[in-house]
Amino acid sequence: STRVLTGITTTGTPHLGNYVGAIRPAIRASRAEGVDSFFFLADYHALIKCEDPARVARSRLEIAATWLACGLDPERVTFYRQSDIPEIPELTWYLTCVAAKGLLNRAHAYKAAVDRNEEAGEDPDAGVTAGLYMYPVLMAADILAFNAHSVPVGRDQIQHIEMARDIGQRFNHLYGEAWRRVGRAGEPFVLPEVAIEENVATLPGLDGRKMSKSYDNTIPLFAEPAAVRRLIAGIVTDSSAADAPKDTGSNVFQIYQAFADAEETAAMRQAFADGISWGEAKARLAERIEREVAPMREKYAALMARPDDIEDVLRAGAARARALATPLLEGIRLAVGLGPLS
Ligand code: TYM
Repeated sequence: STRVLTGITTTGTPHLGNYVGAIRPAIRASRAEGVDSFFFLADYHALIKCEDPARVARSRLEIAATWLACGLDPERVTFYRQSDIPEIPELTWYLTCVAAKGLLNRAHAYKAAVDRNEEAGEDPDAGVTAGLYMYPVLMAADILAFNAHSVPVGRDQIQHIEMARDIGQRFNHLYGEAWRRVGRAGEPFVLPEVAIEENVATLPGLDGRKMSKSYDNTIPLFAEPAAVRRLIAGIVTDSSAADAPKDTGSNVFQIYQAFADAEETAAMRQAFADGISWGEAKARLAERIEREVAPMREKYAALMARPDDIEDVLRAGAARARALATPLLEGIRLAVGLGPLS
């Protein structure tokens, strides 16, 4: 079977970008025959970006309820919290010891922080934690601990998956023989592939930049319909005349097509050519999103009122996840020369 794995960092309220880039494709993939899925709350990753414990705690509940409201079936999917799997930080250390520092120097998130500092004439590493620097290694451990084949993510995560491949490959090269010597077959790690849906790989936000918690330009997935309409009304557009043809490069069109089927997209493309007003285009966008989100919003509200039930699901998921990670880590420990003396 194919193993599909993905996670979301628990630092905020899930938005449309998370939904179309990761949640929806992951849940679709999980329904196929012969697919074994692992979806998780990346709460260790949250600590890298967020020092507000109340926010992290709240976000975990919101993101867990979101996955379930969007149709994750906990019978089919192993659904867990990263911090419930002690094998992940253990594996992070083994991988840390083979990951090239030069590789981590090139990671986007770290480099962006250094570039910002240099532009401001500050020490390049000012305010940069070791956690931010190690972010890609922790993520490699998430993926490699379950030997995932396929990782559905948005475009901003591609580099991290490539780094996980690199680090896994280096580990296989260094310890593959030792792994077989301790009685294991094949290679220690499967090298993961990234799975991207092209038309939603980067959903733009209200200001045209990538929709992102850190840009404060998001549309929360389960905001009330009136709030969604208000946010959409605020999407930045060009100032072409009301009845002039409109540019399908606009974020209004880009977000619409992430929700529409081929026929609806074609009709909207025609309307843009025919000079639909921005007001009307935005109204259609809000309607289209509402049609998809409304039934899930109801489930979400019901789930948010039952955190104990969600906790039960996560605990059962952690037990299932550990049933795989524990034997893998036993082998890894022996392969690197640790473990019992006899
Ligand atoms: P995070 O929490 O920033 O985002 C979660 C998922 O949502 C996708 N996404 C988007 N997709 C399209 N358009 C957008 N505007 C947009 N914004 C966010 C992200 O690409 C991602 O798929 N490091 C990861 C979490 C993680 C993980 C992992 C993912 C930790 N370990 C192992 C996969 C496998 C992150 O911070 O994603």
